[in-house]
Amino acid sequence: MSKIQSVVRGVGGYLPERVITNDELSKTVDTSDEWIVQRTGIRERHVAAEGEMTSDLALHASRIALDNAGLTPADIDLIVVGTTTPDRTFPATAALLQHKLGITHGVAFDVQAVCSGFVFAVATADGYLKGKMAKRALVVGAETASRLLDWNDRTTCVLFGDGAGAMILEAREVPDDAPENGVLVSSLRTDGSHWDKLYVDGGVSATGTIGHLRMEGKEVFKHAVGMISDVIEDVLEKTGKTTADLDWFVPHQANKRIIDGAGKKLGIPEEKTIVTVDRHANTSAASVPLALWVASEDGRIKSGDLVMIEAMGGGFTWGAALIRW
Ligand code: ACO
Repeated sequence: MSKIQSVVRGVGGYLPERVITNDELSKTVDTSDEWIVQRTGIRERHVAAEGEMTSDLALHASRIALDNAGLTPADIDLIVVGTTTPDRTFPATAALLQHKLGITHGVAFDVQAVCSGFVFAVATADGYLKGKMAKRALVVGAETASRLLDWNDRTTCVLFGDGAGAMILEAREVPDDAPENGVLVSSLRTDGSHWDKLYVDGGVSATGTIGHLRMEGKEVFKHAVGMISDVIEDVLEKTGKTTADLDWFVPHQANKRIIDGAGKKLGIPEEKTIVTVDRHANTSAASVPLALWVASEDGRIKSGDLVMIEAMGGGFTWGAALIRW
């Protein structure tokens, strides 16, 4: 008997050129570097240039992931993009990315789970590969969150930034008793009763406008650690592992205090936790693959490592996945 594993072939990431530091922000809104660093750990964010769209950021990250995997766009037959800031209302950003990659085969679609978008996209692609519906998936988290921000609202505009990250997953048929590899298990959750704690006050059907991001920061903070721990514990239980087995914890990069809170609750030491939020703020669905990219480029995440990814965001949505790298 054989089984299919969804194996990681490569990762990539991209941050737009323009950097906005906390000090620069403090010239336009009533805030300070000290306040932002102390409350969030964020030092700077990147913002896409005029005309630079989510699919452009995704394209940069995808090309790097393909290069790292030694593959070309022709090798990809599934593209799943996690995004809440699509280029256009339709078609899907994944379809535009497919076009920019110069391919017309396979299937491409978006997943909308806000900050959890990449984790949901990984779980979706894993299901497609294991269900023999595709052979090689390009899984992307990409956002131009800057376009949803009210730049006069200091309670939200200091927290977010633009970016993209990408990962290639490949279906491999192996004997049933082959050692574990790739995406081992995922756990996803949604509870829409919390929708108005983190949302956009516009939309195609609601207002016919794009709208701005609105958030009850304290409420989000209150729920975040518990929800993150819930799905991580579920993933550990399903795989018979403990946090001591983890080589790396790669959390959603929203806020250093949430990351620290989750690490403390779960007993994951700081030295096993990848933190990049200081460099790019909360890039929503892009944050986990950006952190994966940074940590694999600098040699921390290596082949054979056990990596836990997790995210929580608007909806609320939350999810985790355990990956043998
Ligand atoms: N600069 C300076 N002061 C500010 C700023 C700012 N940017 N923003 C708010 N303040 C002020 C408030 O007005 C308030 O002033 P007041 O006491 O005079 O009324 C004071 O700072 C304290 O405000 P709080 O909202 O109580 O600050 P808190 O310690 O809760 O921190 C924060 C706010 C950072 C948003 C926190 O609630 C948080 O981290 N929440 C999680 C939100 C998050 O990470 N969201 C990301 C999206 S969701 C996700 O990805 C998980």
